Order: sequence, then structure tokens, then C-alpha cells
Amino acid sequence: MEKEVVLSGIRPTGFLHLGNYFGAMRNYVRMQDDYNCYFFVANWHSLTTHPDTRELQESVHRVIAENVACGLDPDKVALYIQSDVPEIAELYLYLNMLAYKGELEKTVTFKEKVRAQPDNSNAGLLTYPVLQAADILIHRAVKVPVGKDQEQHLEMARNFADRFNYRYGDVFPLPYAFNYNSELVKILGLDGTGKMSKSENQLSTLYLADDDDTIRKKIMKAKTDQGPTETNSAKPDYIANLFTLMQLVSKPDTLKKFDDDFAASSTGNCIIRYGDLKKQLAEDMVQFIKPIRERAADIQGNKDLLQKIIRQGADKARASASETLGLVRKAMNMNY
Ligand code: TRP
Repeated sequence: MEKEVVLSGIRPTGFLHLGNYFGAMRNYVRMQDDYNCYFFVANWHSLTTHPDTRELQESVHRVIAENVACGLDPDKVALYIQSDVPEIAELYLYLNMLAYKGELEKTVTFKEKVRAQPDNSNAGLLTYPVLQAADILIHRAVKVPVGKDQEQHLEMARNFADRFNYRYGDVFPLPYAFNYNSELVKILGLDGTGKMSKSENQLSTLYLADDDDTIRKKIMKAKTDQGPTETNSAKPDYIANLFTLMQLVSKPDTLKKFDDDFAASSTGNCIIRYGDLKKQLAEDMVQFIKPIRERAADIQGNKDLLQKIIRQGADKARASASETLGLVRKAMNMNY
């Protein structure tokens, strides 16, 4: 039986962090044997916010290197850069004719971006979901691992696919958001407010590129409090988050010890020592991030290897993309 097609995109503005790793990349790595996987760096999407394109280039290289360092195997999956696949741009053009101004204007992410950058509400921003649909449909992907915030874009992709199929004939299967086996782990920032971020809130985000001392410093500054007032208390978000991190990177015994200490603590009898917890977590986190950081730096520093990975991904992606585009043109009578 043919494997189902899985596809996801990563925006390269900023640095990949622990939330990206546990919320996305670790799942991608698990999928690579079971599905026909396409993972790409969405650098065209990044242009909507007018970044410095030198920095963008560097980020694209880093994101490729970090994905390989996290365990994505370029021999198993297609790991590529969006702008290396011009077929996506052609499909985007066709889909734009099926996307209506009204529906694009009421997309939540569009409205948020316009509020955030009122001087730059460009057409690329408005049609961001159309480009995302083209990313997905170009490989006729059916499973799209993404977070909750992308549900609306996925629904729009289904609508565009549906309209295309209705007007020109069946070409596209409908894509759905997909999470592998488990629910996604949610990691908050170390200050307990909001998610870790590629570009904001940098002191409370742990990046895959952080050096050992930066990791230690950030964790030691993480928000804690005086300890629970009653035994067996529920943990406040920021404390629960430290335990989540510990569960992900520390030994089960370590987690259990601090968990028991927390449960046994109350006012006047504080057994849990947050200083010790953070020190232990910091060391375990250093051990976790260090090999990823070092492997990524090796790959990024090896220009020949990096180029080889990028070319290999582009070749795989273009083979699949041009096959779909052939079907699209045929359906549309655009094959002259
Ligand atoms: N919009 C996605 C994000 O912000 C990135 C993305 C672009 C994407 N194209 C995609 C995700 C296609 C899944 C499929 O995270």
C-alpha cells in the first residue's frame, strides 16, 4: 500500500526553540518511517513581514541544519526550501483565482498581522492562506501536523481544494490537521506567561542554539514562588511547566523525587527546593540541547554537506510537485 502523504512547513523567522522541538520536530521524526513525508522551510511566507533577507538566509540554513540535527533523515523525508520549488508559485496563482477577498480579509491571522503591522498590510499577507494551501496541495498531502492556531488555514486549504475539484475535476484529496498518537506537549515560557517564541520573549525561551551557560542562566531565572501552602496542592502553571520540562529531559527518578517533595510541602514545612530543582533541570537540559546544538553547528558549518541536503530535498520536492502540476494543468486545459 502507498504511504499517506504528510506535510508541514516551518517559518524561518527567528530561532527554533524547545516548544518547536517537542511540539513539532520530535513528531516529524517519529513520522518519517510511517508516512511519505514533506517538511519544508516556508521562506516565501516570511517575506510577508519584510525581514532582513540576509538574516533570513542564515535562518533558513540554520532551520535545515537543526531539523537534521534533531533526527530528520534527508534520505527518508523530503526536507526542502519553499523557494526551491517554483511549482508552488504556479499553483498559488491558480488557487488565488478561487480565493475570495471577503474570506481572506476575515482570516484571524490576517487581522492580527494587520493590527501588528498597520503600515504593511500587503497582498502577500492577505493571500498567506492561499500560499499555504498551495504548499500542501502541491504534494496532494492529506495529513498536516500543525498546532491549533493553524486550523483555520487548513479549513481554507480544504475549501480551495474543494472549489478546484468542483470546477476543474478531481485532483486534490482534502488535507486535515494531524497529530501523531499523542496530544501535543505544550511548553510555556520560563516566566510562565504564554508560549516560547522564535523571536519574542527571548529570556524565557530555550533555543536549540543556546550555549550551556545561557541555558543555565535562563532556567535559574525561571519564575517560582514560596512553595505550596497545603500538601498535595495543584501546581500553578509556571511550576507545572518546570515539571513538564523535567519530565521531558530528566530521569524518571529525578522527576519523582521533586514531585513527591512538592506534594509533601505546605506552609511552614516546605520540602521542595526550587533552587535544587532548577539546578538539576538546568544540567539535564544542557545535556539534552548540547548534542543537538553541536550537530546543527557542524552541519551549518559544512557548506558542502548543507548544499547537498538542500539540493536533495529540492529534487525530491520538485519531482512530486511537477507531477501534481501536470494534473492541474491538464484539468484546467492549461497544457498547450
Ligand atoms: N503558517 C504556518 C505557521 O505559521 C507555516 C506554514 C506555511 C505551513 N505553509 C505551511 C504549515 C503548510 C503547514 C503546511 O506555522
